[in-house]
Formats: sequence, structure tokens, C-alpha cells
Amino acid sequence: MYLGFYELKERPFNSTPDPRFLYLTPGHREALAQLVYSVQESRGFLVLTGEIGTGKTTLLHAFIERLNGTAAVAYVFNSMLSFDGLLEYTLEELGAPAPGSSPAQRLLALRRVLLDRRRAGQSTVLVLDEAQNLEVATLERIRLLSNFETPTEKLLQILLVGQPELREKLNRPELRQLQQRVELQCSLPPLSHAQVRDYIQTRLRVAGAHDSDLFSDRAQARIAAYSRGIPRRVNILCDHCLVIGYADQRRRVEVDVVDQAIEALEGGPRRPAHRSPSPARRAHERWVLGAVAAAVLAGVAVLPVRFEAEQLLTLARYVRDLFWR
Ligand SMILES: Nc1ncnc2c1ncn2[C@@H]1O[C@H](COP(=O)(O)OP(=O)(O)OP(=O)(O)O)[C@@H](O)[C@H]1O
Ligand SMILES: [Mg+2]
Repeated sequence: MYLGFYELKERPFNSTPDPRFLYLTPGHREALAQLVYSVQESRGFLVLTGEIGTGKTTLLHAFIERLNGTAAVAYVFNSMLSFDGLLEYTLEELGAPAPGSSPAQRLLALRRVLLDRRRAGQSTVLVLDEAQNLEVATLERIRLLSNFETPTEKLLQILLVGQPELREKLNRPELRQLQQRVELQCSLPPLSHAQVRDYIQTRLRVAGAHDSDLFSDRAQARIAAYSRGIPRRVNILCDHCLVIGYADQRRRVEVDVVDQAIEALEGGPRRPAHRSPSPARRAHERWVLGAVAAAVLAGVAVLPVRFEAEQLLTLARYVRDLFWR
């Protein structure tokens, strides 16, 4: 919506873990290097924790990319699965030819896949994202998977990734045995203020921004303070700023735009920055909104309406105003 106005090629603050937008602090680099090294060294259990939205899943994607085919990876993000469901999913992810229909057969199938991979010179990593939600009993059964080994090495490495509650869970007495097998624990801290600025600049650059001053210094400082260095919060806030900035036709995001975006995010009252539209304008705006709704319902890929700049601006103002409703 605001891409043309800010001369961007794509949305800079999307909330997907796209590795092209990856920003690595020294702490991220260290965690990434340790994870890759631990897999190469066939360590047992690895644990990565971080507060909500600090970039664990994003880092995982980079980690899998860095393994560069040296390891087969089963990436499981649905931590609500039972152990049997999890095993079934893992086998599918690893491309097991005959997963088997009973729990015992599935364990045997896993063993076959692990041995095949080892013979092919590959290690196998089971990555369990959102692991803070795993039941204690499921975690205990996952521990047993790490018993797949040859006389000289582990056949399966297990990486547990989750919010800080995961560490608390692992400290429970029932999980003492698992805790003892953890060979690497690393965590992702929030970004510092200076890193938030770098992060914003990095994402803008990747999205094709020509203007490195799109957000003023004070605006970036306010974003850093509000987000408390959590990348997801930075993304949401910056995206709001761009919608509001575009709706108000501001080429540069100044601190007052950030304040409006924060107010909107917190459901605060709308600032009366603009006059009420005429009935004719309202009718036109309703038409634009109706067309967008129809397009969304029909599937965006076959968008039947070509939006002109004026209509997009109307839409942006609607979106901005919706924030305050
Ligand atoms: N290092 C980073 N570089 C670029 N973007 C990042 C980085 N870290 C996080 N992000 C952005 O922040 C968003 C949230 O990150 P992510 O989903 O990886 O967090 P998380 O720690 O896995 O969150 P949760 O605890 O909710 O699972 C991502 O979609 C991504 O856009
Ligand atoms: Mg995540």
C-alpha cells in the first residue's frame, strides 16, 4: 500500500521469518556458530531459548540453511502433538519410506533412517520449536530418542527451542535425566537500542529503500524504547508507522508518527489529525473498501480492480483509522 510512496520494493517489516532480512548481532552469530558446531560434533541435546518474538524461529531458519545439507533436519513446530504424532511427523519430514503403523514399528523406522543417513555421511537433527509447550511426559519420551547411537556416536541430535519457560520446565525433577544430557544452552537476548536502529536500517535496505533517513533519529529511539528490543514488536510498530505516515503523506517518519502508532497499537483515542470527509468522499471511500473486501473474498491473486494512487491512499487512511477504532 505504501510501497510506491516510500519507494520500497517490498514490505520491510513483514512478520515472517524471511532469512533475506536476517540481522545478526554478535550474540546471534555466536549462538548460530555454536549450534552448527554442536551438530558437527554430534552433541546430544541442544537448547535455545529467548523471550517471545526475539527471533528464535528466524534464527532456526538461518541455522538450517547454514547446515547446508550436511545434516538431515526434521523441523517440528507443532508442540501440541502427542509423542506418537511427533514421531510420525518426524518420519515424514525425514522422508522415511515405510513409517510403520505401530509405535514400535515407527521407532524401528526412525532407527533405519538414522542409520541410512549416517552411512551417507549425514547427521540427523530433530528441531522442536515452541518446545515450552511440550508435555513433561512427551519431553521424557523425546529424551529416549537420544539413545539411538552407535558405540561411538549419537545418531540423532535434538534441538529444543522455546521461550524461557522451557528452561524452567527442564529444571523440573522429573526431567533430571534430560537436563543432564543437555550439552549446549544458548539464549537470544533482546536487541540494544543501537541494535534496534541497525535492525531497522537493515530491513529498510533489504526492502530497497533509497533513503536511509526514512525514520528520524528520535523516531528510532522511541521505537527502540517501546519495543524493548524485541524484533517482532519493532516490526509491528514500524509497519504501523509507515501506514500512518503514508496516510498523512509524510515522507519521513518523525517521533509524532511513532507516538500515534503506539497509541493505535494500544487502542488509544484517535487524534483528530484530519477533517471529516464530505458525503461524496465517504461514498467513494465506501466503494474502495467494498472493492477491496470483494477482492479479498475472491482471492487476492485475481484482484479484479486496479487501484490508482488516490484509491490506495484512501485505503491507507481507512486502515490507519481502523487502528483507532
Ligand atoms: N535477527 C533477526 N533478523 C531479522 N528479522 C528478525 C530477527 N529476529 C526476529 N525477526 C523478525 O521478528 C519476527 C519475530 O521473530 P520470530 O518469529 O523468529 O520470534 P520467536 O522468538 O520465534 O517468537 P515466538 O517466541 O513467538 O516463537 C520475525 O518474523 C522476523 O520478521
Ligand atoms: Mg518462534
